Amino acid sequence: MTGEDSRPGRPIDDRRPDDLMERVVNLCKRRGFIFPSAEIYGGFRSTYDYGPLGALMLRNVKNAWWRAMVQLRDDVVPIDAAILSAPRIWEASGHLANFTDPLVDCRNCHERWRADKIAGSCPNCGSTDLTEARAFNLMFKTYAGPVEEDATVAYLRPETAQGMFVNFLSVLTTTRKKPPFGIAQVGKSFRNEITPQNFVFRTREFEQMEMEYFVPPDEADQWFAYWLDERMRWYADLGIPAGQLRLRHHGEEELSHYSAATADVEFAFPWGWDELEGIANRTDYDLKAHAALSGVRLEYHDPGSGERYVPYVIEPAAGATRTMMAFLLAAYEEDEVGGEQRTLLRLDPRLAPYQVAVLPLSKNDRLVPLSREVLGLLQPVCMCDFDVTQSIGRRYRRQDEIGTPYCVTIDFDSLEDKAVTIRERDTTAQERVPIDRLVQEISGHLAR
Ligand code: GAP
Repeated sequence: MTGEDSRPGRPIDDRRPDDLMERVVNLCKRRGFIFPSAEIYGGFRSTYDYGPLGALMLRNVKNAWWRAMVQLRDDVVPIDAAILSAPRIWEASGHLANFTDPLVDCRNCHERWRADKIAGSCPNCGSTDLTEARAFNLMFKTYAGPVEEDATVAYLRPETAQGMFVNFLSVLTTTRKKPPFGIAQVGKSFRNEITPQNFVFRTREFEQMEMEYFVPPDEADQWFAYWLDERMRWYADLGIPAGQLRLRHHGEEELSHYSAATADVEFAFPWGWDELEGIANRTDYDLKAHAALSGVRLEYHDPGSGERYVPYVIEPAAGATRTMMAFLLAAYEEDEVGGEQRTLLRLDPRLAPYQVAVLPLSKNDRLVPLSREVLGLLQPVCMCDFDVTQSIGRRYRRQDEIGTPYCVTIDFDSLEDKAVTIRERDTTAQERVPIDRLVQEISGHLAR
Protein backbone atom coordinates (compact mmCIF):
# COMPACT_ATOMS: atom_id res chain seq x y z
CA MET A 1 0.00 0.00 0.00
CA THR A 2 1.18 3.50 -0.70
CA GLY A 3 -0.02 6.61 1.03
CA GLU A 4 2.11 9.08 -0.84
CA ASP A 5 0.91 11.70 -3.27
CA SER A 6 2.04 10.78 -6.74
CA ARG A 7 1.38 14.23 -8.21
CA PRO A 8 4.12 16.59 -7.09
CA GLY A 9 4.52 19.37 -9.61
CA ARG A 10 1.41 18.37 -11.53
CA PRO A 11 0.59 21.10 -14.04
CA ILE A 12 -2.46 23.23 -13.26
CA ASP A 13 -4.84 21.95 -15.90
CA ASP A 14 -3.86 18.32 -16.01
CA ARG A 15 -6.97 16.21 -15.26
CA ARG A 16 -8.87 19.25 -13.98
CA PRO A 17 -12.41 19.30 -15.36
CA ASP A 18 -13.48 22.65 -16.88
CA ASP A 19 -16.36 22.92 -14.46
CA LEU A 20 -14.29 21.94 -11.41
CA MET A 21 -15.76 24.71 -9.28
CA GLU A 22 -19.32 23.62 -9.96
CA ARG A 23 -18.47 19.99 -9.24
CA VAL A 24 -16.81 20.81 -5.94
CA VAL A 25 -19.65 23.10 -4.86
CA ASN A 26 -22.14 20.33 -5.69
CA LEU A 27 -20.10 17.75 -3.83
CA CYS A 28 -19.92 20.07 -0.80
CA LYS A 29 -23.66 20.38 -0.71
CA ARG A 30 -24.51 16.78 -1.62
CA ARG A 31 -22.22 15.25 0.96
CA GLY A 32 -22.55 17.78 3.77
CA PHE A 33 -19.35 19.80 3.66
CA ILE A 34 -20.85 23.26 3.15
CA PHE A 35 -24.48 24.36 2.88
CA PRO A 36 -25.93 27.75 1.98
CA SER A 37 -26.98 29.22 5.33
CA ALA A 38 -30.69 29.41 6.29
CA GLU A 39 -31.62 27.42 3.21
CA ILE A 40 -35.11 26.64 4.49
CA TYR A 41 -35.72 30.41 4.33
CA GLY A 42 -34.24 30.71 0.85
CA GLY A 43 -30.65 31.34 2.00
CA PHE A 44 -29.13 34.40 3.63
CA ARG A 45 -26.86 36.83 1.81
CA SER A 46 -23.94 34.61 0.76
CA THR A 47 -23.46 33.08 4.19
CA TYR A 48 -22.60 29.41 4.57
CA ASP A 49 -22.87 26.74 7.21
CA TYR A 50 -20.35 23.93 7.58
CA GLY A 51 -22.08 20.56 7.71
CA PRO A 52 -20.84 17.39 9.47
CA LEU A 53 -17.98 16.75 7.02
CA GLY A 54 -17.13 20.42 6.60
CA ALA A 55 -16.98 21.01 10.34
CA LEU A 56 -14.54 18.09 10.66
CA MET A 57 -12.39 19.22 7.76
CA LEU A 58 -12.29 22.88 8.79
CA ARG A 59 -11.20 21.79 12.25
CA ASN A 60 -8.45 19.69 10.64
CA VAL A 61 -7.21 22.65 8.57
CA LYS A 62 -7.03 24.77 11.71
CA ASN A 63 -5.39 21.96 13.68
CA ALA A 64 -2.74 21.50 10.96
CA TRP A 65 -1.97 25.23 11.12
CA TRP A 66 -1.93 25.17 14.92
CA ARG A 67 0.40 22.20 14.98
CA ALA A 68 2.89 23.86 12.63
CA MET A 69 2.64 27.37 14.04
CA VAL A 70 2.19 26.74 17.78
CA GLN A 71 2.66 23.15 18.89
CA LEU A 72 5.93 22.37 17.11
CA ARG A 73 7.56 25.67 18.14
CA ASP A 74 8.81 27.10 21.40
CA ASP A 75 8.79 30.69 20.16
CA VAL A 76 5.05 31.10 19.48
CA VAL A 77 2.25 31.35 22.04
CA PRO A 78 -1.50 31.42 21.35
CA ILE A 79 -4.26 33.78 22.40
CA ASP A 80 -8.01 33.86 21.86
CA ALA A 81 -9.15 37.49 21.87
CA ALA A 82 -12.67 38.97 21.84
CA ILE A 83 -14.46 39.36 18.52
CA LEU A 84 -16.52 42.28 19.80
CA SER A 85 -14.06 45.10 20.00
CA ALA A 86 -13.54 48.71 21.07
CA PRO A 87 -13.61 51.50 18.44
CA ARG A 88 -10.27 52.80 19.70
CA ILE A 89 -8.54 49.61 18.52
CA TRP A 90 -9.73 50.32 14.98
CA GLU A 91 -8.99 54.01 15.25
CA ALA A 92 -5.36 53.23 16.14
CA SER A 93 -4.98 50.47 13.55
CA GLY A 94 -6.19 52.75 10.76
CA HIS A 95 -9.21 50.57 9.94
CA LEU A 96 -11.77 53.28 10.75
CA ALA A 97 -10.12 55.63 8.28
CA ASN A 98 -8.68 53.26 5.69
CA PHE A 99 -10.49 49.92 5.64
CA THR A 100 -12.76 50.85 2.76
CA ASP A 101 -13.68 49.66 -0.71
CA PRO A 102 -14.91 51.99 -3.47
CA LEU A 103 -18.70 51.61 -3.80
CA VAL A 104 -20.83 52.57 -6.81
CA ASP A 105 -24.61 52.38 -7.34
CA CYS A 106 -26.23 51.52 -10.64
CA ARG A 107 -28.83 54.28 -11.24
CA ASN A 108 -30.80 51.93 -13.50
CA CYS A 109 -31.28 48.73 -11.42
CA HIS A 110 -30.02 50.07 -8.04
CA GLU A 111 -27.54 47.23 -7.52
CA ARG A 112 -24.33 48.19 -5.69
CA TRP A 113 -20.85 47.16 -6.81
CA ARG A 114 -17.19 47.44 -5.91
CA ALA A 115 -15.95 49.98 -8.45
CA ASP A 116 -12.55 48.29 -8.86
CA LYS A 117 -14.17 44.92 -9.69
CA ILE A 118 -16.38 46.06 -12.60
CA ALA A 119 -15.35 47.51 -15.94
CA GLY A 120 -17.47 50.69 -16.00
CA SER A 121 -20.84 49.00 -16.50
CA CYS A 122 -23.30 47.27 -14.17
CA PRO A 123 -22.75 43.47 -14.24
CA ASN A 124 -26.49 43.03 -13.53
CA CYS A 125 -28.19 45.17 -16.22
CA GLY A 126 -25.29 46.47 -18.33
CA SER A 127 -26.07 50.15 -17.67
CA THR A 128 -23.15 52.57 -17.61
CA ASP A 129 -25.16 55.08 -15.55
CA LEU A 130 -23.23 54.59 -12.32
CA THR A 131 -22.76 56.96 -9.36
CA GLU A 132 -19.35 58.37 -8.43
CA ALA A 133 -17.38 55.86 -6.30
CA ARG A 134 -17.49 56.55 -2.55
CA ALA A 135 -15.51 54.95 0.29
CA PHE A 136 -17.46 52.20 2.04
CA ASN A 137 -16.06 50.98 5.37
CA LEU A 138 -16.05 47.19 5.56
CA MET A 139 -16.34 46.89 9.33
CA PHE A 140 -19.57 45.61 10.88
CA LYS A 141 -20.74 48.15 13.44
CA THR A 142 -22.99 47.24 16.36
CA TYR A 143 -23.85 48.41 19.88
CA ALA A 144 -22.62 46.78 23.08
CA GLY A 145 -25.49 46.99 25.55
CA PRO A 146 -29.14 48.00 25.29
CA VAL A 147 -28.60 51.65 24.36
CA GLU A 148 -27.81 52.52 20.76
CA GLU A 149 -25.64 55.63 21.05
CA ASP A 150 -22.11 56.69 20.08
CA ALA A 151 -20.71 55.70 23.47
CA THR A 152 -21.78 52.06 23.00
CA VAL A 153 -20.50 51.53 19.46
CA ALA A 154 -18.52 48.32 19.01
CA TYR A 155 -17.14 46.55 15.95
CA LEU A 156 -16.91 42.91 14.94
CA ARG A 157 -13.20 42.46 14.28
CA PRO A 158 -12.27 42.51 10.57
CA GLU A 159 -8.98 40.70 11.33
CA THR A 160 -7.69 38.75 14.32
CA ALA A 161 -4.33 40.55 14.18
CA GLN A 162 -5.19 43.54 16.36
CA GLY A 163 -5.91 41.16 19.27
CA MET A 164 -2.21 40.27 19.22
CA PHE A 165 -1.07 43.91 19.24
CA VAL A 166 -3.34 45.11 22.04
CA ASN A 167 -2.33 42.10 24.16
CA PHE A 168 1.39 42.41 23.34
CA LEU A 169 2.39 43.71 26.75
CA SER A 170 0.25 41.24 28.72
CA VAL A 171 1.68 38.34 26.73
CA LEU A 172 5.23 39.64 27.12
CA THR A 173 4.95 39.95 30.89
CA THR A 174 3.04 36.71 31.49
CA THR A 175 5.19 34.48 29.24
CA ARG A 176 8.58 36.22 29.64
CA LYS A 177 9.21 35.69 25.90
CA LYS A 178 11.73 37.86 24.12
CA PRO A 179 11.92 38.77 20.43
CA PRO A 180 11.96 36.95 18.13
CA PHE A 181 8.68 35.44 19.32
CA GLY A 182 5.15 35.16 17.97
CA ILE A 183 1.54 35.38 19.10
CA ALA A 184 -0.90 33.23 17.15
CA GLN A 185 -4.66 33.20 16.92
CA VAL A 186 -7.33 31.33 14.99
CA GLY A 187 -10.86 32.63 14.85
CA LYS A 188 -13.71 34.37 13.11
CA SER A 189 -13.42 37.73 11.40
CA PHE A 190 -16.11 39.78 9.71
CA ARG A 191 -16.02 42.13 6.73
CA ASN A 192 -19.04 43.69 5.12
CA GLU A 193 -17.80 42.76 1.64
CA ILE A 194 -19.72 44.59 -1.09
CA THR A 195 -19.66 41.56 -3.37
CA PRO A 196 -18.99 38.26 -1.62
CA GLN A 197 -18.15 35.74 -4.30
CA ASN A 198 -16.82 32.40 -5.45
CA PHE A 199 -18.48 30.23 -2.82
CA VAL A 200 -16.49 30.54 0.45
CA PHE A 201 -13.55 32.34 -1.18
CA ARG A 202 -14.89 35.76 -0.18
CA THR A 203 -17.59 35.83 2.49
CA ARG A 204 -18.67 38.35 5.11
CA GLU A 205 -18.02 35.95 7.97
CA PHE A 206 -14.90 33.81 7.71
CA GLU A 207 -12.09 32.30 9.76
CA GLN A 208 -8.50 33.48 9.88
CA MET A 209 -5.28 31.87 11.11
CA GLU A 210 -2.85 34.66 11.90
CA MET A 211 0.46 34.99 13.66
CA GLU A 212 2.30 38.18 14.60
CA TYR A 213 6.03 37.51 14.91
CA PHE A 214 7.81 40.23 16.89
CA VAL A 215 11.47 40.70 15.93
CA PRO A 216 14.35 43.13 16.50
CA PRO A 217 13.96 45.76 13.72
CA ASP A 218 17.31 44.94 12.10
CA GLU A 219 16.24 41.27 11.73
CA ALA A 220 12.91 42.00 9.97
CA ASP A 221 14.09 41.24 6.42
CA GLN A 222 15.58 37.91 7.37
CA TRP A 223 12.45 36.80 9.28
CA PHE A 224 10.23 37.94 6.41
CA ALA A 225 12.17 35.62 4.07
CA TYR A 226 12.03 32.83 6.67
CA TRP A 227 8.23 33.00 6.97
CA LEU A 228 7.73 33.04 3.19
CA ASP A 229 9.56 29.70 3.02
CA GLU A 230 7.83 28.20 6.03
CA ARG A 231 4.35 29.05 4.84
CA MET A 232 4.91 27.82 1.27
CA ARG A 233 6.17 24.56 2.72
CA TRP A 234 3.03 24.18 4.86
CA TYR A 235 0.67 24.20 1.87
CA ALA A 236 2.90 21.90 -0.18
CA ASP A 237 3.27 19.45 2.71
CA LEU A 238 -0.52 19.19 3.00
CA GLY A 239 -0.90 18.27 -0.65
CA ILE A 240 -1.25 21.40 -2.78
CA PRO A 241 0.68 20.44 -5.94
CA ALA A 242 3.67 22.69 -6.67
CA GLY A 243 2.19 23.73 -10.02
CA GLN A 244 -0.87 25.16 -8.26
CA LEU A 245 0.99 27.23 -5.69
CA ARG A 246 3.06 30.38 -6.08
CA LEU A 247 4.37 33.38 -4.19
CA ARG A 248 3.61 36.85 -5.52
CA HIS A 249 5.43 39.92 -4.17
CA HIS A 250 3.40 43.13 -3.97
CA GLY A 251 4.58 46.18 -5.85
CA GLU A 252 5.05 49.49 -3.96
CA GLU A 253 1.64 50.81 -5.10
CA GLU A 254 -0.17 47.75 -3.74
CA LEU A 255 1.23 47.79 -0.20
CA SER A 256 -1.18 48.36 2.73
CA HIS A 257 -0.70 51.49 4.82
CA TYR A 258 1.20 49.51 7.48
CA SER A 259 3.42 47.38 5.28
CA ALA A 260 7.07 47.66 4.21
CA ALA A 261 6.87 44.43 2.19
CA THR A 262 4.11 41.93 1.43
CA ALA A 263 3.93 38.71 -0.54
CA ASP A 264 0.85 36.58 -1.15
CA VAL A 265 0.76 32.82 -1.24
CA GLU A 266 -1.48 32.21 -4.25
CA PHE A 267 -3.39 29.16 -5.43
CA ALA A 268 -4.49 28.41 -8.99
CA PHE A 269 -8.24 28.72 -8.45
CA PRO A 270 -10.48 27.78 -11.40
CA TRP A 271 -10.84 31.53 -12.20
CA GLY A 272 -7.07 32.14 -12.01
CA TRP A 273 -4.35 32.81 -9.44
CA ASP A 274 -5.72 34.27 -6.22
CA GLU A 275 -4.66 34.83 -2.62
CA LEU A 276 -4.63 32.20 0.11
CA GLU A 277 -2.43 34.05 2.56
CA GLY A 278 -0.69 37.40 2.89
CA ILE A 279 2.73 37.60 4.54
CA ALA A 280 3.66 41.14 5.53
CA ASN A 281 6.41 43.08 7.21
CA ARG A 282 4.12 45.36 9.27
CA THR A 283 7.14 47.21 10.72
CA ASP A 284 6.45 48.84 14.12
CA TYR A 285 3.31 50.53 12.75
CA ASP A 286 0.72 48.81 14.95
CA LEU A 287 2.57 48.82 18.27
CA LYS A 288 3.47 52.50 17.82
CA ALA A 289 -0.08 53.42 16.81
CA HIS A 290 -1.59 51.66 19.86
CA ALA A 291 1.05 53.17 22.13
CA ALA A 292 0.26 56.66 20.82
CA LEU A 293 -3.50 56.34 21.28
CA SER A 294 -3.50 54.43 24.58
CA GLY A 295 -0.56 56.21 26.21
CA VAL A 296 0.89 52.80 27.19
CA ARG A 297 4.50 52.06 26.17
CA LEU A 298 4.48 49.00 23.93
CA GLU A 299 8.17 48.08 23.82
CA TYR A 300 10.52 45.30 24.62
CA HIS A 301 12.90 45.97 27.45
CA ASP A 302 15.89 43.65 27.65
CA PRO A 303 16.67 43.34 31.37
CA GLY A 304 20.22 42.14 30.61
CA SER A 305 21.43 44.87 28.27
CA GLY A 306 18.95 47.53 29.37
CA GLU A 307 18.07 47.98 25.66
CA ARG A 308 14.54 49.21 24.81
CA TYR A 309 12.96 49.00 21.39
CA VAL A 310 9.64 48.65 19.56
CA PRO A 311 9.79 45.33 17.72
CA TYR A 312 8.98 44.98 14.03
CA VAL A 313 6.29 42.48 13.12
CA ILE A 314 6.25 39.80 10.44
CA GLU A 315 2.71 38.57 9.89
CA PRO A 316 1.68 35.38 8.07
CA ALA A 317 -2.13 35.87 7.75
CA ALA A 318 -4.10 32.97 6.27
CA GLY A 319 -7.80 32.25 5.81
CA ALA A 320 -9.01 28.90 7.20
CA THR A 321 -12.25 28.76 5.23
CA ARG A 322 -10.63 29.92 1.99
CA THR A 323 -7.76 27.48 2.44
CA MET A 324 -10.15 24.60 3.08
CA MET A 325 -11.77 25.38 -0.26
CA ALA A 326 -8.35 25.33 -1.98
CA PHE A 327 -7.57 21.94 -0.42
CA LEU A 328 -10.90 20.61 -1.74
CA LEU A 329 -10.27 21.96 -5.25
CA ALA A 330 -6.73 20.56 -5.33
CA ALA A 331 -7.89 17.15 -4.09
CA TYR A 332 -10.85 16.67 -6.43
CA GLU A 333 -10.39 13.96 -9.02
CA GLU A 334 -12.41 11.63 -11.18
CA ASP A 335 -11.00 8.31 -12.34
CA GLU A 336 -12.08 4.81 -13.25
CA VAL A 337 -11.87 1.75 -11.05
CA GLY A 338 -12.84 -1.68 -12.42
CA GLY A 339 -14.57 -0.05 -15.39
CA GLU A 340 -16.63 2.17 -13.08
CA GLN A 341 -16.34 5.95 -12.82
CA ARG A 342 -15.49 7.26 -9.36
CA THR A 343 -15.05 10.66 -7.77
CA LEU A 344 -12.37 10.96 -5.15
CA LEU A 345 -10.89 13.57 -2.90
CA ARG A 346 -7.19 12.88 -2.58
CA LEU A 347 -7.05 14.74 0.71
CA ASP A 348 -4.06 14.41 2.96
CA PRO A 349 -5.18 12.09 5.82
CA ARG A 350 -4.58 14.96 8.26
CA LEU A 351 -7.24 17.03 6.47
CA ALA A 352 -9.80 14.37 5.55
CA PRO A 353 -13.01 14.52 7.61
CA TYR A 354 -12.66 10.84 8.52
CA GLN A 355 -9.37 8.97 8.55
CA VAL A 356 -11.05 5.56 8.66
CA ALA A 357 -14.41 4.09 7.69
CA VAL A 358 -15.35 0.83 9.42
CA LEU A 359 -17.50 -1.25 7.10
CA PRO A 360 -19.06 -4.62 7.96
CA LEU A 361 -19.46 -6.56 4.71
CA SER A 362 -23.17 -6.89 5.43
CA LYS A 363 -25.73 -6.14 8.13
CA ASN A 364 -25.39 -9.76 9.33
CA ASP A 365 -26.05 -10.22 13.06
CA ARG A 366 -22.62 -11.73 13.65
CA LEU A 367 -20.63 -9.17 11.65
CA VAL A 368 -22.07 -6.00 13.17
CA PRO A 369 -21.01 -6.66 16.81
CA LEU A 370 -17.44 -7.50 15.75
CA SER A 371 -17.39 -4.40 13.55
CA ARG A 372 -18.49 -2.26 16.47
CA GLU A 373 -15.64 -3.73 18.52
CA VAL A 374 -13.22 -2.73 15.75
CA LEU A 375 -14.77 0.75 15.68
CA GLY A 376 -14.24 1.03 19.43
CA LEU A 377 -10.54 0.19 18.99
CA LEU A 378 -10.03 2.87 16.31
CA GLN A 379 -12.13 5.74 17.67
CA PRO A 380 -9.54 6.85 20.26
CA VAL A 381 -6.92 7.00 17.48
CA CYS A 382 -8.71 8.96 14.74
CA MET A 383 -12.05 10.13 13.42
CA CYS A 384 -14.06 7.13 12.18
CA ASP A 385 -17.20 6.69 10.13
CA PHE A 386 -19.33 3.56 10.48
CA ASP A 387 -21.48 2.54 7.54
CA VAL A 388 -23.56 -0.61 7.10
CA THR A 389 -25.93 0.35 4.29
CA GLN A 390 -25.65 -0.59 0.58
CA SER A 391 -23.14 -2.81 -1.20
CA ILE A 392 -19.49 -2.72 -0.17
CA GLY A 393 -18.49 -1.31 -3.58
CA ARG A 394 -20.95 1.56 -3.19
CA ARG A 395 -19.69 2.24 0.30
CA TYR A 396 -16.07 2.39 -0.91
CA ARG A 397 -17.16 4.93 -3.55
CA ARG A 398 -18.96 7.00 -0.92
CA GLN A 399 -15.82 7.09 1.21
CA ASP A 400 -13.58 7.90 -1.79
CA GLU A 401 -15.83 10.83 -2.60
CA ILE A 402 -15.38 12.38 0.85
CA GLY A 403 -11.65 11.68 0.98
CA THR A 404 -11.51 8.92 3.61
CA PRO A 405 -7.99 7.48 3.16
CA TYR A 406 -8.64 4.05 4.71
CA CYS A 407 -11.60 1.68 4.85
CA VAL A 408 -11.53 -1.26 7.25
CA THR A 409 -13.77 -4.10 6.13
CA ILE A 410 -15.00 -6.88 8.38
CA ASP A 411 -16.11 -10.00 6.48
CA PHE A 412 -17.19 -13.54 7.37
CA ASP A 413 -13.59 -14.77 7.46
CA SER A 414 -12.96 -12.15 10.15
CA LEU A 415 -15.14 -14.18 12.51
CA GLU A 416 -12.71 -17.10 12.15
CA ASP A 417 -9.27 -15.58 11.50
CA LYS A 418 -9.75 -12.40 13.61
CA ALA A 419 -8.34 -10.32 10.76
CA VAL A 420 -9.77 -7.46 8.70
CA THR A 421 -9.01 -5.81 5.36
CA ILE A 422 -7.56 -2.33 5.08
CA ARG A 423 -8.39 -0.75 1.73
CA GLU A 424 -6.47 2.32 0.59
CA ARG A 425 -8.35 5.16 -1.14
CA ASP A 426 -5.95 6.28 -3.89
CA THR A 427 -4.66 2.92 -5.07
CA THR A 428 -7.62 0.78 -3.90
CA ALA A 429 -4.96 -1.70 -2.73
CA GLN A 430 -6.07 -4.08 0.01
CA GLU A 431 -4.16 -5.59 2.89
CA ARG A 432 -5.24 -8.21 5.44
CA VAL A 433 -4.32 -7.33 9.03
CA PRO A 434 -4.95 -9.15 12.35
CA ILE A 435 -7.36 -7.17 14.52
CA ASP A 436 -4.86 -7.11 17.35
CA ARG A 437 -2.39 -5.26 15.09
CA LEU A 438 -4.97 -2.95 13.45
CA VAL A 439 -4.49 0.10 15.67
CA GLN A 440 -0.73 -0.10 15.19
CA GLU A 441 -1.11 -0.47 11.38
CA ILE A 442 -3.55 2.41 11.01
CA SER A 443 -1.48 4.63 13.32
CA GLY A 444 1.57 3.81 11.20
CA HIS A 445 -0.23 4.75 7.98
CA LEU A 446 -1.53 8.01 9.45
CA ALA A 447 1.87 8.99 10.83
CA ARG A 448 3.52 8.80 7.41
N1 GAP B 1 -4.15 40.83 9.32
C1 GAP B 1 -3.93 40.93 7.93
C2 GAP B 1 -5.07 40.52 7.14
O1 GAP B 1 -6.17 40.34 7.65
P1 GAP B 1 -5.84 39.97 4.70
O2 GAP B 1 -5.01 39.70 3.49
O3 GAP B 1 -6.90 41.02 4.61
O4 GAP B 1 -4.78 40.32 5.84
C3 GAP B 1 -5.72 37.48 5.44
O5 GAP B 1 -6.50 38.63 5.20
C4 GAP B 1 -6.39 36.26 4.86
O6 GAP B 1 -7.73 36.14 5.36
C5 GAP B 1 -6.58 36.32 3.33
O7 GAP B 1 -5.40 35.91 2.66
C6 GAP B 1 -7.71 35.33 3.12
O8 GAP B 1 -7.24 34.00 3.12
C7 GAP B 1 -8.55 35.55 4.36
N2 GAP B 1 -9.68 36.46 4.04
C8 GAP B 1 -9.67 37.80 4.00
N3 GAP B 1 -10.88 38.29 3.66
C9 GAP B 1 -11.68 37.22 3.48
C10 GAP B 1 -13.07 37.05 3.12
N4 GAP B 1 -13.87 38.09 2.93
N5 GAP B 1 -13.55 35.78 3.01
C11 GAP B 1 -12.75 34.70 3.25
N6 GAP B 1 -11.46 34.81 3.59
C12 GAP B 1 -10.91 36.04 3.72
